[in-house]
Amino acid sequence: MPGLYRVRSPRFRFPADIASLRTELFNAFRRGIVCAILRHLVTCPVDPVSFIRRLPKAELHLHLEGTVTPETLVELSARHDSSPLDLSQAAALFQYTDFSGFLLAFKAITEHLRTPDDYELAAWRMAQRLARQGVVHAEVYVSVGVVYYWRRCEFEPLFLGMERARLRAESELGLTIYWIFDAVRHFGPEEAARVFRKAAELRPRYPSIIGIGIGGDERRTGAEPFRDLYAEARAAGLRLTAHAGETVGPEGIWGALNIGAERLGHALSAIHDPELMGILAERQIPLEICVSSNLRTGCCPRPEDHPLRRYFDAGLMVTLNSDDPALFLSDLDNEYRIAQDTFAFTQEHLRELASNSIEASFLPAERRVEILRRLESLE
Ligand code: ADE
Ligand code: ZN
Repeated sequence: MPGLYRVRSPRFRFPADIASLRTELFNAFRRGIVCAILRHLVTCPVDPVSFIRRLPKAELHLHLEGTVTPETLVELSARHDSSPLDLSQAAALFQYTDFSGFLLAFKAITEHLRTPDDYELAAWRMAQRLARQGVVHAEVYVSVGVVYYWRRCEFEPLFLGMERARLRAESELGLTIYWIFDAVRHFGPEEAARVFRKAAELRPRYPSIIGIGIGGDERRTGAEPFRDLYAEARAAGLRLTAHAGETVGPEGIWGALNIGAERLGHALSAIHDPELMGILAERQIPLEICVSSNLRTGCCPRPEDHPLRRYFDAGLMVTLNSDDPALFLSDLDNEYRIAQDTFAFTQEHLRELASNSIEASFLPAERRVEILRRLESLE
């Protein structure tokens, strides 16, 4: 095991008389016990951080653009801007005070991703960070909706850059990645149709495109206008996800379920609706919970208001995720640590959360079983 070292005992020297023999033996005995305790502490996996890191887990709610750090943004800006951003100017783009401000910051960062090489760089850096956290599989949202709406450019060439990084991550890091094409709901169903149809068109050639989703501002557009598009996407073999109940009440979650969403992003407001809680528990609808995101955007005012623990105790299918780690100053490891430190999840609970992430993934059954076995046997 890495980081282990042998605890060495001082040499025993035979004493000159009985009294010192007794003392020597007693000291040796005491040293033995101390050594045994030290050895136990050193060899036992009591370090919860390393346990979290070693848990094979999946990240199911992660936006590629939201993984771009200020440092990477500086590099991107140097590639393209006539007066490139310095680090403090880049960091300023990551500032926001509420959910609407957060969406604007997300857009500003996305605007700096312009070429296939930019997307490749962002995806490769993301993959490296995921692998360092013990993530073995990620299902990553990419805001195709922002590219179409604000930049009016073709997405496929950019996608090829992401694919290069994905293939490299698989061969060099053993990390698998699926892509979820995300539309911006408040741009409306016509814009979403372009996104979903592009996913359907590309999927036969790129099976890493696993599904579609809607992000953006639920307060402006609910799920219902996307009903037919969701049916069309399902018929094209795409899996269906939706941000739901992040900034609005339980009606946003009912809406997402009603149009066929299989997995829900955030689902923060389900706690206010006992009937909905019952349905989510009974149908074991996976929830992509993102605690730091909810606290930083102000969607959840205080940690003690967050329903994570109550969902888990009610038997809901909870997974932990980081959403936009560079904007929320977090990562998946940290989300597990928050579950442990703030919500009193035990090591076994954390193992269950990791299992949920694998079960709720869109991976084929054989790979899920193989990872779940590794998870079970982890000490
Ligand atoms: N786009 C990126 N992150 C998002 C979030 N948390 N909610 C809605 N849209 C998003
Ligand atoms: Zn999100």
